[in-house]
Amino acid sequence: MRKKIIAANWKMNMTIGETETFCSTFLRELGDERKVEVVIVPPFIAIAKASEMLRDAQSVKLGAQNMHWEKSGAFTGEVSAAMLRDVFCHYVVLGHSERRTIFGETDEAVNKKTLAAHANALRPIVCIGETLAERDGGLVEKVLDTQIRGSLAGLTAEQLEESVIAYEPVWAIGTGRTATPQQAQDAHAFIRKTLADIWGQPAADKVRIQYGGSVKPANAAELMSQPDIDGALVGGASLEPRGFAEIVLNTAKVLG
Ligand code: PGA
Repeated sequence: MRKKIIAANWKMNMTIGETETFCSTFLRELGDERKVEVVIVPPFIAIAKASEMLRDAQSVKLGAQNMHWEKSGAFTGEVSAAMLRDVFCHYVVLGHSERRTIFGETDEAVNKKTLAAHANALRPIVCIGETLAERDGGLVEKVLDTQIRGSLAGLTAEQLEESVIAYEPVWAIGTGRTATPQQAQDAHAFIRKTLADIWGQPAADKVRIQYGGSVKPANAAELMSQPDIDGALVGGASLEPRGFAEIVLNTAKVLG
């Protein structure tokens, strides 16, 4: 049984003060819900504040939005895995489509980061997904297959099990246009089958695959009830603590 995992990808939003306010409201709204694992992913600057605010919340973990694969050194503007561990991050989002398209990240770079995350006991949330042109061109499976093989190359089965995959169709990110539950389920089933082909069925059955792209309180339950959807990576709707808590609580309800 895979524990559902809902992550808040704040992107380049939220100051330290706003992080403090968010966390106190969110924890109050969440109450004693423990069935769903929650990951808050602030910008680097606000991680330490979030860590302080969430210290006692056992089902709420912290993540970062990116990192560099090297341990330390002359890499101006970058942050290492050890630095993220130092502020109590458990997760790191890698290869988000905004990193891939705006900052030119390749599968090869995402792969180096994924391996470095595991080497430092950080769990990567590796993002993959097709553009609208690729979907219209019938290329969804080809794109996902290439991204999986490229971004996850060289992982052991154990490392794969501890990774999270986020399927985020680029056309659904920040557009208000969500994939239908069936479209998302089909993509997730394909991703799991591809993982099984490479790493074996037992490992593939343990990997959690999140859906991302315009997830909100109103559509969370239906998406989260699909058999291969194990959580969500939420952008815009994660900036509002009550709405984000509602997404988590609606997911918990699906679990009964
Ligand atoms: P969205 O973003 O929820 O605003 O569509 C999702 C993401 O980019 O992770």
